[in-house]
Amino acid sequence: MEYSEWLKRKDLQFIDNKLYFSSFNVQELAMEYGTPVYITNEKIVRTRFNQINDVLKSVLNDYNIHYAVKANSNLSVLTILHSEGSYFDCTSQGEIYSCLKAGITSDKIIYTGNMFTDEDFKFAIENNVIINLDSLSQLDRVNKIYESLRKEKKVISFRYNPEFGAGHHVHDITAGKEIKFGILDNQIFDAYQKAKDFGFRQFGIHIHIGSGITNVMNYQKAIDKYLSIVEEISKKVGFEFEFVDFGGGFGIPYHPNEEPFNFDLYKKLVLVPFIDLINNRDIGEPVLKIEPGRFLTAESTILVTKINTIKDNGYKTFVGVDAGFNTLIRPILYGSYHHIIPCFMSETAKTMKYDIAGPICESGDILGKDREIFELNEGDTLAILDTGAYGYTMSSCYNSRPRAAEILLSNGKSYIIREAETYEDLLQNQKVPDHLK
Ligand code: LLP
Repeated sequence: MEYSEWLKRKDLQFIDNKLYFSSFNVQELAMEYGTPVYITNEKIVRTRFNQINDVLKSVLNDYNIHYAVKANSNLSVLTILHSEGSYFDCTSQGEIYSCLKAGITSDKIIYTGNMFTDEDFKFAIENNVIINLDSLSQLDRVNKIYESLRKEKKVISFRYNPEFGAGHHVHDITAGKEIKFGILDNQIFDAYQKAKDFGFRQFGIHIHIGSGITNVMNYQKAIDKYLSIVEEISKKVGFEFEFVDFGGGFGIPYHPNEEPFNFDLYKKLVLVPFIDLINNRDIGEPVLKIEPGRFLTAESTILVTKINTIKDNGYKTFVGVDAGFNTLIRPILYGSYHHIIPCFMSETAKTMKYDIAGPICESGDILGKDREIFELNEGDTLAILDTGAYGYTMSSCYNSRPRAAEILLSNGKSYIIREAETYEDLLQNQKVPDHLK
């Protein structure tokens, strides 16, 4: 893909040597709202949702797209996706709470937790949210809680671990024998048999093999096995699945050399075999679910940061900015690449090699290594791209740096959708015992 096309896909372009995001001059936004600041473009969230929706619609009548809330749980983002018809995948009580606060009804939420507590189960059951269990022992516990709350045992789902996973980093490969998630072949039949014996009447099944998957062939390997286990469980235990959930994991082109996720191939290798299974085997008509997180929100957001220091130590040149791994942890945690561009175009032809460094007191606080950019100056602003997924949600107040603000660009207007934290916010839950006063 041409570089300008790659930028355009993210609604970024240079006009009169100034970077524009949607119809906004990014430098002006930085001046108005301060830095560091996360800026989200509503149109991109909607476009990505519709892109996936069109793929599913082209081959299926019945499906649900559950946005993985962990990617970006801002209430405005949830509301935008809700208005497009999205369902939601939550991994904690807090995420369910946020969805309910955003006006999302419980029938649109699935709770894919792991290491669930009894309180987690109670919260989900009381709020009528479908639970996707992650171990056999959890089934015993959830059954008891249903009984103690005198709630009807309706739907239950299990996360199946197909023993093959993939992902952009070893921390994000979520299937395999040594991985903590899901139930393997050796226990999956017992799980459904036991659930049936306990009196559950409707069943779902789920896999999520990993995150940031760019090679669709990785899905195929897991899906072939998944589909045969779906059929086998259905026959052996004797029921028809209500839903079959394929999880998320769809990668995005973080680097200008990367191609967008190939949904045509996904359709061919994953969706069509699923449809064939329904059409040709006697397993009922389960609804297909998928759980994209990154694909829906990553490209919708830039993190804008200001250069405070340029330092040539004789060996390397560091560009010091006001965002660090407290603001965006992906580069230091996973070695992830985020493209970084100045918010203006320079006339100078001189190219420099820079490490873009945050203000955190650790030498690992580098947001971009050996980046070739034209000569920069203190006071310039930079945009760190594709930070709408696992950006703000993984940020922290390490080094007592308050978290950044979040801004939404929508139909030619900009809105603060989360105020920047203050020093007061950092201290508000602390208590000093009397004897220390
Ligand atoms: N469903 C389940 C059960 C998941 O655990 C996840 C992500 C998703 C869906 C969505 O995956 P996605 O479509 O976003 O790849 N912090 C990491 C990503 C962790 C993903 C964890 N689970 C990162 O910054 O890359």
